[in-house]
Amino acid sequence: MKTYKIAVIPGDGTGPEVIGEGLKVLNAAEQVFGFRLESTPYDLGAGRYLRTGEILPDTVLDEFRAHDAMYLGAIGDPRVKPGILEKGILLRMRFELDQYINLRPIRLYPGVETPIKGKGPKEIDYCVVRENSGGLYTGMGGISRADSTDAVATQVMTYTYEQVERCCRYAFEYARKYGKKARGVGDRNTLALVGKSNVLTYMYQLWNRVFAEVGEEYPDVERQYFHVDATTLYMVASPEMFDVIVTENMFGDIITDLAAITQGGLGVSSGGNINPQGVSMFEPIGGSAPSWTGKHAINPIAAIGAGAMMLEHLGETEAARAIERAIASVTPKMKSQLANEMGFTTEQIGDMIAAAVTR
Ligand code: IPM
Ligand code: MN
Repeated sequence: MKTYKIAVIPGDGTGPEVIGEGLKVLNAAEQVFGFRLESTPYDLGAGRYLRTGEILPDTVLDEFRAHDAMYLGAIGDPRVKPGILEKGILLRMRFELDQYINLRPIRLYPGVETPIKGKGPKEIDYCVVRENSGGLYTGMGGISRADSTDAVATQVMTYTYEQVERCCRYAFEYARKYGKKARGVGDRNTLALVGKSNVLTYMYQLWNRVFAEVGEEYPDVERQYFHVDATTLYMVASPEMFDVIVTENMFGDIITDLAAITQGGLGVSSGGNINPQGVSMFEPIGGSAPSWTGKHAINPIAAIGAGAMMLEHLGETEAARAIERAIASVTPKMKSQLANEMGFTTEQIGDMIAAAVTR
């Protein structure tokens, strides 16, 4: 039987609760589809940091490399100064494991409320491929005379040819495989580069060139370009015009939060930090929501959806599809996607989705 080694990081706040439901659904899929997930739990996050002072030991990072995938709940706690765990765990994992793609499908499940008037699952159905290793996140820059009125700070956006090339290539491959035509919901596969070529002229000289060069190898994928500011407007006014979007790190960070609210919010948004040649990590993007811990009120769908993305990535396509269908069969029964307003407990949602996978 096919066996996959999964590093599970439940993390902080409501992370363990939603990961528990995610594992429940993944277990159901194992039974039906005949593969095995061998999961190893890892204690990382605010809890461990406050107890031991350890953030992300090198030995743990090395152990991650020996897994087929990683499944993360959430990291973050108000008792820890902002930045420590984000930089020390989340960003460090991305960089050290070279998870250079941040994949964020934007799909409105049936029955889920979107703040966009008149748009439904047919219109809100695209995917953002965010570059996840470079740009402003590289951390280059400095500050001089920090505490004076002469203070001057720089934070540099950097990209190498190779970083842009591998990101564009991933995005074209993705559009070829999962674009609207490939999925049978449109008549072409399109990939839109989102940038700011009218102002960041050096940066987009590089991105535009590489996007066009790599794109030559994908004649089946239609190329588009949009400025990032206009993109935020289109995402709200006409989300149906998007298929696959590729964008640099910081623009991607910003537009994927906007996209998340259009798909029903953090309770349903899942993401992957992907190294196509290495170990990738899948997560609900909502964060640890510490005030909801232990209340059985948080929505586990984002975590369950992340589990489906993980299976897709591992090649268990049918199982991934079954989980997505199971989620889509449960969302119409929920009153809301918001914590405490679902009409069900966290565990009940997990049970319903697991049962739908088994049916
Ligand atoms: C995300 C988050 C992270 C980011 C933070 C927590 C460092 O906002 O995954 O989008 O900025 O990438
Ligand atoms: Mn973000």
